Amino acid sequence: MKIIVLGGDGFCGWPTSLHLSNLNHEILILDNLSRRKIDIELGVTSLTPIKSIYERLDAWKEITGKKILFENCDISKQYNKLLSIIKEYSPDAIIHFAEQRAAPYSMKGSSGKRYTVNNNLNATNNLLAAVVESKRDIHIVHLGTMGVYGYSTAGMKIPEGYLSVKVTNDEGRDIIQDILYPPNPGSIYHLTKTQDALMFAFYNSNDGIRITDLHQGVVWGTQTDETSLDERLINRFDYDGDYGTVLNRFLMQSVINHPLTVHGTGGQTRAFIHIKDTVKCIEIALSNPPKNNEKVKIFNQMTETHSIKDLAKKIDQISGVGIDFIKNPRKEDDENELYVENKCFLNLGLDPITLSDGLLFEIQDIAKKYSDNCDPSKIHCVSYWTEENKPN
Ligand SMILES: NC(=O)c1ccc[n+]([C@@H]2O[C@H](COP(=O)([O-])OP(=O)(O)OC[C@H]3O[C@@H](n4cnc5c(N)ncnc54)[C@H](O)[C@@H]3O)[C@@H](O)[C@H]2O)c1
Repeated sequence: MKIIVLGGDGFCGWPTSLHLSNLNHEILILDNLSRRKIDIELGVTSLTPIKSIYERLDAWKEITGKKILFENCDISKQYNKLLSIIKEYSPDAIIHFAEQRAAPYSMKGSSGKRYTVNNNLNATNNLLAAVVESKRDIHIVHLGTMGVYGYSTAGMKIPEGYLSVKVTNDEGRDIIQDILYPPNPGSIYHLTKTQDALMFAFYNSNDGIRITDLHQGVVWGTQTDETSLDERLINRFDYDGDYGTVLNRFLMQSVINHPLTVHGTGGQTRAFIHIKDTVKCIEIALSNPPKNNEKVKIFNQMTETHSIKDLAKKIDQISGVGIDFIKNPRKEDDENELYVENKCFLNLGLDPITLSDGLLFEIQDIAKKYSDNCDPSKIHCVSYWTEENKPN
């Protein structure tokens, strides 16, 4: 398959590009390297020493003999460039990772909010409009988030994207409809993902674009089989308060003897997936595209749920660094239950990697190896949802 990977220099996009290249797909990465610029803006670096995109691609070619193409393109702004690349390259599929993905960064005052909305919504709309204008038959695979469903106890198992509702009409007849699960975003970042979902529904019904939207859980881990082949291919490892995902943050904190920073009571339950399963799920989604005229396929891309408190306890047991319960910078429920349907991927053959001590130790080893790169002053989240969420 010929595949364009939008955002292929990022945490999920880079290992996915390598994995698909290894499977002999032809890959073209489009990325504006904005994530690396945000590192500079925040004065933080990936814990792992990531190489420039050019060194990464040269190393991949040297090690495997496989060539991945790269083009620097801001898909939220350079519409004509995006369109001509799509027309010329004529891909079978486009994977869309190219969005600002940190909820805390999106809540960093008006600049974070405006940047995230402008970047994410224009990126998605430009992609969809360009696919229509190109007149090519392209399967779009988008990385969405479990956060579109919201993190309040639903009292039911969260379905995969659509909710079946029954309404009694004026004649007393029951009408059953499948509607998009009611969006309930908890940050501006999540808000953009809920709006992406509406754009997908519109372009799918209006233009017949074939789309798979993957509602992904929080990703943990860092290396995949391909990124482990050589240090120059290493994946990013974010540990800071804005971009670090919770489990990786805890593992990093545990190796530098920093108490684990739990927000609020830690009673928040979240869905998780290991980075190796992320790349596997995308491979599965590409091999199972929607048919013509099929509505947007929505899969919950997660393998397990845990409360933050239980994760912290588990890591405290293996490290003994202690737990620091700090005032929650987010406006969210103190506690929630989360039951999630994930049959779609399981039925298509996903064999989930779940939290095991072995894997936790493996990630701790990486964190230990590069712990000198950690700036402890960047560990705490300093983006606050409201004035009331600021520390006293
Ligand atoms: N990491 C997670 O835990 C997680 C969880 C759920 C969903 N997701 C989703 O997966 C996707 C990828 O996440 P990630 O963790 O790899 O993020 P990331 O920030 O590491 O990677 C995103 C990449 O997209 C690029 N990019 C952003 N805006 C762009 C634009 N306008 N034009 C071109 N390139 C642009 C960035 O430079 C970066 O390389 C995101 O859409 C995110 O919402 C991630």
